[in-house]
Amino acid sequence: MMPPRNIVILTGAGVSAESGIGTFRDSGGLWEQHRVEDVATPEAFARDPDLVHRFYDMRREQIQARAPNAAHLALARLQRDWPGQSGGRVTLVTQNVDDLHDRAARAEGVVDADVIHMHGEHLSVWCTACDARQGWTGALADRPACPSCGVPALRPDIVWFGEMPYRMEAILTAIDEADMFVSIGTSGAVYPAAGFVRTAAELGAWTLELNLEASQGTDWFDEARHGPATRIVPAWVEEMLSGG
Ligand code: OAD
Repeated sequence: MMPPRNIVILTGAGVSAESGIGTFRDSGGLWEQHRVEDVATPEAFARDPDLVHRFYDMRREQIQARAPNAAHLALARLQRDWPGQSGGRVTLVTQNVDDLHDRAARAEGVVDADVIHMHGEHLSVWCTACDARQGWTGALADRPACPSCGVPALRPDIVWFGEMPYRMEAILTAIDEADMFVSIGTSGAVYPAAGFVRTAAELGAWTLELNLEASQGTDWFDEARHGPATRIVPAWVEEMLSGG
């Protein structure tokens, strides 16, 4: 393999698991405790907005008590140091709606950190009246007014099932230009993210899986390393940054 320049990294719930944020599909995961159709679809929100708001208010509060772990911090160091070392760039795409990659980037001093949150963000709200998106740390269940237009029409800025993930064009362009595609802590169960490895492989990137166990798409990867993210991600990043 030629030395890689451009790297696309896709992360999922597994990268935040050791920060104390439960995954979706592991035993005891969020989708065992709640039905997707009750809390994570536009239909659920139309039917029972109180239930949906309470669910996301609780999650929004929880993540603020969590902190980035060694895997988030290592990926931030790769984003910071890889361009100077290789002349390429690292595009970090996450399915996670927590802000732990963003906080890790700030902690490691990444300049112009761009974390693509393809499934939205807990700490952002979207006004269905004026379309504005803005940072938000409080609750929505009490129906606060939108700071931009004054209408109490805020919803979580989360991509629900049946909605279009964010920034797909930027993601596909980065995959097209990538020499290396790395998937970290995701089960490979949810499309379109689950299909990125196949697209990357077909467009010529070398592909690596870093996950606790084999994911559903594991056969698509050129290499797979299995173990907890806080162990295997920093080890891989050190390898990359030491030219290994
Ligand atoms: P899942 O819960 O489906 O998968 C988590 C993956 O992380 C599994 O393959 C686990 O084996 C792995 N894992 C667990 N602990 C780990 C650890 N400590 N280190 C490394 N890997 C670990 O979560 P996602 O694949 O992220 O969408 O789920 C994708 C999407 O489904 C989410 O973004 C969410 C959900 O419904 C929306 O909410 C739109």
